[in-house]
Amino acid sequence: MRKISKVTAMQRYAAECGRSGTRVALVPTMGCLHAGHMSLVHKARKQVGPGGRVVVSIYVNPTQFAANEDLDAYPRTLDRDLADCRAAGVDVVFMPSDSSMYPDRERGGYSTYVNEENLSASMEGGSRPTHFRGVTTVVAKLFNIVRPDVAIFGAKDWQQAAIIRRMVRDLNMAVKITVAPTVREADGLAMSSRNANLSPAERAQADVLYRSLRAARAAVRAAGSVSAAKLRSGIRRVFKTAPLAKLDYVEFFHPDTLEPVRTVSSGTRMALAARFSRARLIDNERL
Ligand code: PAJ
Repeated sequence: MRKISKVTAMQRYAAECGRSGTRVALVPTMGCLHAGHMSLVHKARKQVGPGGRVVVSIYVNPTQFAANEDLDAYPRTLDRDLADCRAAGVDVVFMPSDSSMYPDRERGGYSTYVNEENLSASMEGGSRPTHFRGVTTVVAKLFNIVRPDVAIFGAKDWQQAAIIRRMVRDLNMAVKITVAPTVREADGLAMSSRNANLSPAERAQADVLYRSLRAARAAVRAAGSVSAAKLRSGIRRVFKTAPLAKLDYVEFFHPDTLEPVRTVSSGTRMALAARFSRARLIDNERL
């Protein structure tokens, strides 16, 4: 396994793959890898086969964190991440520095951003207004640097995946986007690097997101269609059983356009976010 930290070295490697017709799959991450990330790595290998190259990027991207957010508290476990990547048969870990990704950013020396202007406004974008601009910018940069044939994203961040798809389509990027299912803990909690920032008491209540998703799904399956307002009040009741969690938003929407719906039926997607003292968690499922 190769570790590459220089953008120019990664570009040379990508150019070599291009010349030799070697297929490249990219799994973009911010590190602190868990079984959810590793499922994307396995999917990446399936997509390009044994003769292809699987590249995992590990980069805690500062432009997707607002000034008041958890950039400094974001968990970092590089040695373990590298061992996991090696064990999973990853070919390259790309781990650039801030100064190589955003040269001179503090002094205005970096000034180009990619902005998706429609899907980015709601849900995570409502709670974190500059977040997706940072995500689309860094993912566009990673695509330019790594030149992947395919890139794998997780359904756990459904809105993010929808925005990346839109960016790729709108900007004619020659990369196929694959979305892999959410990997969960035994109690249903979606695996996330941020789960490490839950206290034991909070961890015990963190299944409230998945319990909300399941309650909504059961209601929709039983009735065929239910008003979003009614589901919302049901979810507020579920949250009463988890006093350490504060519901941030819950939305019901079309899976591709992210357009909110008033009447929820099978196929509608639900997403929600909850705040704990040191962690903010998100989850979503098809109802
Ligand atoms: P990160 O949160 O590290 O997630 C990297 C990828 O892993 C994302 O595509 C995410 O959806 C996926 N993922 C996370 N938890 C998962 C789970 N439990 N099951 C399946 N997939 C899961 O998302 C980011 O980083 C960043 O925004 C990034 C795209 C790397 C840009 O900086």
